Amino acid sequence: MRNTITVMNAKGGVGKSTLVLALAETLSAFHGKKVLVIDSDAQASISHMLLPQRQLEALQDEGQTIVDYLVAAVLKETPEDWRRYVIAGVSDVDDARSIDLLPSDTNLTLFEREISKGEREALLRRTVGGILREARQAYDYIFVDSAPGLSVLTECWLREADFYLSPTRPDYISTRGLAFLRKFRQRNPEMGFADLLGVIVNMKDPQSVEDDQYDQWLRQDPENRCFARPVLRVTPLQAAAYFSPSDRSYWAKYPGQTGDHLRMLTDEFVRRITGVQNGQRR
Ligand SMILES: Nc1ncnc2c1ncn2[C@@H]1O[C@H](COP(=O)(O)OP(=O)(O)OP(=O)(O)O)[C@@H](O)[C@H]1O
Ligand SMILES: [Mg+2]
Repeated sequence: MRNTITVMNAKGGVGKSTLVLALAETLSAFHGKKVLVIDSDAQASISHMLLPQRQLEALQDEGQTIVDYLVAAVLKETPEDWRRYVIAGVSDVDDARSIDLLPSDTNLTLFEREISKGEREALLRRTVGGILREARQAYDYIFVDSAPGLSVLTECWLREADFYLSPTRPDYISTRGLAFLRKFRQRNPEMGFADLLGVIVNMKDPQSVEDDQYDQWLRQDPENRCFARPVLRVTPLQAAAYFSPSDRSYWAKYPGQTGDHLRMLTDEFVRRITGVQNGQRR
C-alpha cells in the first residue's frame, strides 16, 4: 500500500514538524488510524512535540533513537530490527492513542558526516527503504519529518517514500524552497522519487495582503497541487509544539476553528491518498 509520506521543504521554519504533529493527531483521534512518525531531523523537534522532555533525553542517553539504529545498520553493518527503536503510544492528546515514534537525536549530524566520508549512501538508501517497506504493512500512515536543507538522509527518504508533502509559508523565500525541490526532483528521474501529494500553505496571516498574494500565486500553478485551504497563523498551532505534562483533549489542544480546519485538512489528505491507492488519477 502506498502510505509513506516524507514532509519536506528545503526552507526551514515553514511548519513541517507542526503539520506532521497535527496530521498524526487528527488521523489518530478522528480516523482511528495507526500512524508512525519518523523523526529525521537532528533538532528532534517532532520528538520533543510528542514526548515529555525527560523521556526523550533518557531515550537519547540510552541509545534508543533512529540515529542508534542507523549507526548499527549502516556504519557497523550489524542489522537490527528498527522496530526495537519505536516508542509506542506517544502524544499528549488523550484521544490520539495510536501514534508511534522513531525519535531522533542531535548526533544525527555526526552520523550524516560519516556517511558522506565513507561512501555509504547506497547502503543508507537500502536501509531507509527497508524501514518504509516493513512499516507500510504495520501502519496506516507513515510520516517522515525531515530537516531543512537537502541532506543525504533526506534525499533517501524522498526517493524511497511513496509521496512527499510540502508545507510552505506564503512568502518569497519559502516558495523558492519549493522550486529548489522541484528542480532537484527533475534532475535524476531514473533514481526514483516520491510523488507530490500537495503543497500546504501554512502560517497565513488573514490580515496580510502580501500573504494573500503569495497564496493566490501558489494556487495558480497546478503543479503545486495546493490543498484547498491555507493553515492560518494561530496561537494554538504555535503552542502545540509544547508537550503538555498532563493529557489533554484534542479540542483543548486545537480549539474552535483551528481544530475544525485541521480536520478539513486531514479529510483532504485522506481523500487524496485514498484516491491514489484506489488507482484514481492524482
Ligand atoms: N500555523 C501556525 N501558526 C502559528 N505558529 C506556527 C504555525 N505553524 C508553525 N508554527 C510555529 O512556527 C515555528 C516553526 O514551525 P516548525 O518547527 O513546525 O517548522 P519546521 O518547518 O518543522 O522547522 P524546521 O525547518 O526547523 O524543522 C514553530 O515555532 C511553530 O510553533
Ligand atoms: Mg521541523
